[in-house]
Amino acid sequence: MEMQRLDKIIASTGRWSRREVKDLIRHRLVTVNGIPAASPEEKADPETAEILVKGECITYRRYTWIMLNKPAGYLSATEDGKGLTVLDLLPQELRRQELFPVGRLDKDTEGLLFLTNEGGLAHDLLSPKRHVDKVYYARVEGCLVQADRDAFAAGITLPDGLQCQKAKLEILSAGETSEAHVTLREGKFHQVKRMLAFLGKPVTYLERVEMGGLPLDLSLSRGEYRFLTPEEVEHLRKQVSR
Ligand code: URA
Repeated sequence: MEMQRLDKIIASTGRWSRREVKDLIRHRLVTVNGIPAASPEEKADPETAEILVKGECITYRRYTWIMLNKPAGYLSATEDGKGLTVLDLLPQELRRQELFPVGRLDKDTEGLLFLTNEGGLAHDLLSPKRHVDKVYYARVEGCLVQADRDAFAAGITLPDGLQCQKAKLEILSAGETSEAHVTLREGKFHQVKRMLAFLGKPVTYLERVEMGGLPLDLSLSRGEYRFLTPEEVEHLRKQVSR
């Protein structure tokens, strides 16, 4: 495999940032084939070199998986002629990795968005056939009632003929405005907003809080991201092979 910078290889594990890698190297805590690394720019073949961090052998990750806490105002796209996309929230070195968002959140929707360069798994996570849950927190106008929950459970057919799969509506509060968790296994355009609008409860705020059993990491502020751990990527892989 092509030689790569040590800081890039080690940061690809998602366990240390490039800045942390620099410190580890300065403290002589990184070795390459038994020799302490001299600098973060040092190059190695990630597939054949034995790279130890604090004595622990690291595994190079071929694909990058990122969890982003998307703020409103950004498009879930890789490029947009006019506005900002979620890729604008990532540093230059990650933008070079051909990452793309796993599915779309509307421009005004916030919360959990995965970005990756692993096409196969991303595709499977979005396939309605794989039954991967996506959970949204929604605030709506109007009072959500048992009949709304039943309509979600039965499967709503929208006025344009779109037949939504059975879904879950968990009412968190009900009054002049209401709050709910909505769980879907598909992701049609504006789906949550359209389903709730159909029931006469237009959405005023929407946030994705979970996907594929992984909750949004609440230590991430809006606009922040982190790498998924190998265990989290494995978890996603299991979700599509169930
Ligand atoms: N459903 C919507 O209506 N909007 C989103 O962004 C995601 C799901």
